Amino acid sequence: MKKERWATKTGLILALAGNAVGLGNFLRFPVQVAGNGGGAFMIPYFIALILVGIPLKWVELSIGRLGGKHGYHNCVGMFGLIGGNPRFKYIGVLGLFIPFTVCVYYTYIVSWTLGYSVFSFLGSYFGLESRECMGAFLKGYQGVESNQYFSSLAYSYTFFLICLGLVMYVLYKGVSRGIEKLAKVAVPLLILFGIILMIRVFLLGTPDPSHPERNITNGLGFIWNPDFSELSSASIWLAAAGQVFFTLSVGWGTMHNYASYIREKDDIALTGLASSSINEFTEVIIGGTIAIPAAVAFFGLIETQSIAKGGAFDLGFQSLPIIFQKIPLGEIFGGMWFLLLFFAGITSSVAMGQPVMSFLEGEMGLSRKKATAILGIALLLVAQPVILFLGNGFLDELDFWVGSFALVVFAFLETIMFGWIFGMNRGWKEIIKNAEIKVPRIFYYILKYITPLFLFAILVHWAITEVPSKLSMMGVDQGNIPYIIAARIMMAGIFLIFVLLVWRGDRERRVRKK
Ligand code: ALA
Repeated sequence: MKKERWATKTGLILALAGNAVGLGNFLRFPVQVAGNGGGAFMIPYFIALILVGIPLKWVELSIGRLGGKHGYHNCVGMFGLIGGNPRFKYIGVLGLFIPFTVCVYYTYIVSWTLGYSVFSFLGSYFGLESRECMGAFLKGYQGVESNQYFSSLAYSYTFFLICLGLVMYVLYKGVSRGIEKLAKVAVPLLILFGIILMIRVFLLGTPDPSHPERNITNGLGFIWNPDFSELSSASIWLAAAGQVFFTLSVGWGTMHNYASYIREKDDIALTGLASSSINEFTEVIIGGTIAIPAAVAFFGLIETQSIAKGGAFDLGFQSLPIIFQKIPLGEIFGGMWFLLLFFAGITSSVAMGQPVMSFLEGEMGLSRKKATAILGIALLLVAQPVILFLGNGFLDELDFWVGSFALVVFAFLETIMFGWIFGMNRGWKEIIKNAEIKVPRIFYYILKYITPLFLFAILVHWAITEVPSKLSMMGVDQGNIPYIIAARIMMAGIFLIFVLLVWRGDRERRVRKK
């Protein structure tokens, strides 16, 4: 098999940025800021970024580059390598399980953005000027209810199949001819769309003179004015750390994979920092300027608070479309907003599919064609309950356990492996090897002591406060309990299948050796 490599340095940085920049930057971030003390949120956010986010990015990129040198392109082989024992491969299974499972529901959500960009350009929802109507439109589209807007899941399925097909096509084309090419188009375009939308939002002024308080300055104030009293609550710290994991895509297994296609002689320190800076620019500057300030300018402070409480989908798919209906050329701006989300999301979806592709090709010895077919069918099958039981809490259950909790578990285990089992001295050498910047030595200590402690504290807090009520399904609608159980069985099943595949591969290798 020919060794895959990134073709250019720019392509690599854009691919890493594409991996990280996603729906989280434009939908999740503003809602988190607005709901967690506004500007005060940025204090724990930047602390988590420096103590956990950036160090973990370097850890993952150096594990990945080292793994790639030995022919490993996913965490299974890489963790066996840095742990010095094949048993550590089973921790690496998390680096397949997490991206695969999230890829399923993430790609489904990305497909809504494609659908909504088409609806925006066509003006399909124009005329639905209240949150209730747009809410019904979204529920109809998601199949949560059958109504006058949508009577079946036909549109949802169509856009999902288009997105999944695109993801599989890019993966089939490979690292430089697929992923890198997509990133070179998608990332600059999404930044361009983001800047245009940001300028448009700045120009909103006071859209309704009968409500002079509803203006863009108050909108920016709402999201950025710090409420320092919030800093004493643990939940804001957890929310900030959770956002950093989600947005940087650390603790997933996808960064290791992308880094495995970097040549040994190439830098990862500056590359990691450059791609993270693109991510932060799109998140804090662009993501923080568009949705919430626009909502304040049009709906006022009180309603925006309720929108932010309603979550990212309420903000992105229900409230913003109402604003697009109220501004000149709203079809175009609406289409641009959803295309921005689509480009951000699809590059992350591809990144989540690639670790399993590399496993099927590398560890299972399948051809690219077969690996593409198997992964595509597996994603399609697992997506069925996610799509059909969306209104029953199925997706939320996956998102809590895999898209939030497992990320921290995985990140914690990997910092222990890197700093304590592989050893910080060897780890540090990997990070600074061929580095194009001088990485401050303090990060040696941060990585060895502070990052694992920080992660451990989050885990303990979670284990005490959230996990018991989640496990016992406290507050869950009686009717949804069977779906939640089904989601858990499915997650366990996916995890077990990966474990079995790794175990079988190991056994075959042992038999061959004998
Ligand atoms: N990092 C990706 C996002 O922010 C997953 O959406």
